[in-house]
Amino acid sequence: MLLTGKTIVVTGGNSGIGEAIVLAAAAEGANVVIDYVAHPEETTALIAQVEAAGGRAVGVRADVSKVADVQTMIRTAVETYGRLDVLVNNAGIETRTSVLETTEDDFDTVMAVNLKSAFFGTQAAARQFVAQGGGGLILTVSSVHEDWPMPGNAAYCVSKGGIRMLTRTAGVELGPHGIRVVNIAPGAVATPINASTESDPLKMKALDGAIPLGRMAEPAEIADVVVFLASGRAGYMTATTVVVDGGIMQGSVGL
Ligand SMILES: NC(=O)c1ccc[n+]([C@@H]2O[C@H](COP(=O)([O-])OP(=O)(O)OC[C@H]3O[C@@H](n4cnc5c(N)ncnc54)[C@H](O)[C@@H]3O)[C@@H](O)[C@H]2O)c1
Repeated sequence: MLLTGKTIVVTGGNSGIGEAIVLAAAAEGANVVIDYVAHPEETTALIAQVEAAGGRAVGVRADVSKVADVQTMIRTAVETYGRLDVLVNNAGIETRTSVLETTEDDFDTVMAVNLKSAFFGTQAAARQFVAQGGGGLILTVSSVHEDWPMPGNAAYCVSKGGIRMLTRTAGVELGPHGIRVVNIAPGAVATPINASTESDPLKMKALDGAIPLGRMAEPAEIADVVVFLASGRAGYMTATTVVVDGGIMQGSVGL
């Protein structure tokens, strides 16, 4: 197993990509901390699924838009499993509003859940890594929209662009401590965040047609990349983004 004995915290871990990361990490022998803010019953069911397969997981309720909650989440991980090895800043939301429509509240909420959470999660994890010694790994989950405009989802794109720069800056600053910071930029993934697209056959046809591999990713295909990055086989990767998008960012129109 690739992650035996490593403690990994996954924010937004009871749904979609986070849930897949929890299952994949536990299957590779990690001790998993599942952060969640809603649907405690889904966290309970996920823990039962992990334990039934012989893995170890606990849940911690923490709203990652609040710095105190983020710090409590990291402290709980260390109190439960004795150390921290990997933080995955995965939690995220979108408002699907344009520059013209986005309200101050929309903007603040998206920035707090997507970007502030990743910044202070990175800070809390890095402080723990420095205190315990031996380095560590911080993964952030941005999106192809860290770099690729999505009209009608303005605040989301801005938050993901911020995550890209957080990864690069923190990776450079923290490298001398042996701490790696790597960002994953998924393309379209079949999760609840895309429910409205998935329920519309016309939108799905257009989306699948724009993806060179011809389909959305399964959440497990993003989790596989997380396992690789956390496995010790990616030890020279830091301050960079790994794009996992089926080729969609290359955006050929083929006229
Ligand atoms: N699905 C995609 O196509 C796609 C593509 C690129 C990037 N992403 C990113 O992947 C990440 C996971 O998204 P997903 O597709 O699995 O969607 P999802 O809606 O299934 O999962 C998002 C998770 O974040 C949690 N969350 C929201 N606000 C929170 C808060 N304040 N505190 C703690 N947790 C909170 C939700 O409860 C949920 O568990 C997000 O950052 C998203 O932007 C998704």
